[in-house]
Amino acid sequence: MAEPTTRPPVQDWATDFDHFDPEFVADPYPIFDDLRARCPVAHTDRYGGMEVLTTWADVAEAAHDPATFSSRRILVNEVPTSERGFPLPPINNDPPDHTGPRRAMLPFFNPVATKRWEQPIRDICARLLDGLEGRVECDLAVDYAQCVPGEITALMLGVPAEDAPTFRAWMHDLLEVGPTDTEVLRETTHVMVDYMRGLVATRRAGGGRSDGDGPGVGGGPEDLVTFLLGQEVDGVLLDDEELVSMLFLLLIAGIDTTWSAIGSSLLHLAAHPEDRRRLAADPSLIPTATEELLRAYAPVFVARVAAQDTELGGCPVDAGAWVMLAFNAANRDPAVFEDAEVVRIDREQNRHAAFGLGVHRCLGSNLARLEMNVAIEAWLARFPEFSLADPEAVTFSAGQVRGPRRIPARLG
Ligand code: HEM
Repeated sequence: MAEPTTRPPVQDWATDFDHFDPEFVADPYPIFDDLRARCPVAHTDRYGGMEVLTTWADVAEAAHDPATFSSRRILVNEVPTSERGFPLPPINNDPPDHTGPRRAMLPFFNPVATKRWEQPIRDICARLLDGLEGRVECDLAVDYAQCVPGEITALMLGVPAEDAPTFRAWMHDLLEVGPTDTEVLRETTHVMVDYMRGLVATRRAGGGRSDGDGPGVGGGPEDLVTFLLGQEVDGVLLDDEELVSMLFLLLIAGIDTTWSAIGSSLLHLAAHPEDRRRLAADPSLIPTATEELLRAYAPVFVARVAAQDTELGGCPVDAGAWVMLAFNAANRDPAVFEDAEVVRIDREQNRHAAFGLGVHRCLGSNLARLEMNVAIEAWLARFPEFSLADPEAVTFSAGQVRGPRRIPARLG
């Protein structure tokens, strides 16, 4: 069951699409399959006007054309698209302004630097699993999946793990409540900006981490804040406002996304014993399975704003309209993937769009994959046998990051 809504229910998905509708929140895939077959560019007057792209070809075309489809706003909400919003570089920057901030962040997230997080992730998973020893039931989303990215993000920022639940509460307010409640959106943004300003000021003053007890980049003990303090764009060190916006983005980008991906994977394995047993018996298949689970349950879909009147898939798009790039629909397009609706955990040809397409492709994909692979492997090693305790009680998040938020499960 999704959270109750006071918004009018959708009558026709082709002309009145709403990703906050409880039917979509519970299961978007039949809706996307139907739209792809009969009206691949769906429309809605909600949110001031939005087109929703459901085929791989249309999603890829828009993602690769940032001059026409701007990233200046990517989270759909009730604030008119003519307003700028709080810009989060590089995700809200169009080329050429996108390149500098992306380059500044890249070294922290490259494959070698990311490897340094493997042991901390293993330690977090082991502690969580120790806490579940002896239990016969638990919630796969609440007791395990959500804890891993929250705690890693805290570690990465160099703040206490006790801050992780606050991050998750902010993400809920920002991503699930904020899009349809502008007051909550503004208040949460304000609180998060204050937190990040405090963090930057502390690091600038030489306080906090950097004490040698955490993994860093290039062999040093740097946390992300300390790392970014040394980064330049166009030969100039990042200023406080740029740092605050980048840290704000990394918090949004890293937590609910990865929680959703780990949760959807465990939900799939709980509901598909043959896949669960196969992976438990052969953990070397986990990275391949992870890609398939990302394809099939891609947690993130983002929007663009049309910079001018244009056309997509034969449909007119007005300047200022939201254009939704449904990566989760593109990933199930039968024109691109054989048996697109079937989850095949040994699928080999799998160039999916779960991490986006084009210049904004996910910067944290190495870290996300590592968290997923380690979390799934550690879980299966400890609990090879588990199943859904009550399939009806599984709930999903609403909004543009989709994943299970309650998965009651039986252990053993
Ligand atoms: C399974 C987990 C994740 C998924 C599915 C995911 C998905 C995405 C997608 C679809 C985009 C493209 C957005 C666009 O086109 O506008 C993106 C961008 C981005 N992601 Fe992720 N993400 C995940 C985890 C992470 C993590 C762990 C981090 C870092 C801590 C991260 C950092 C970023 C950043 C910084 C961008 C912006 C890149 C740019 O604009 O150049 N993501 N992500």
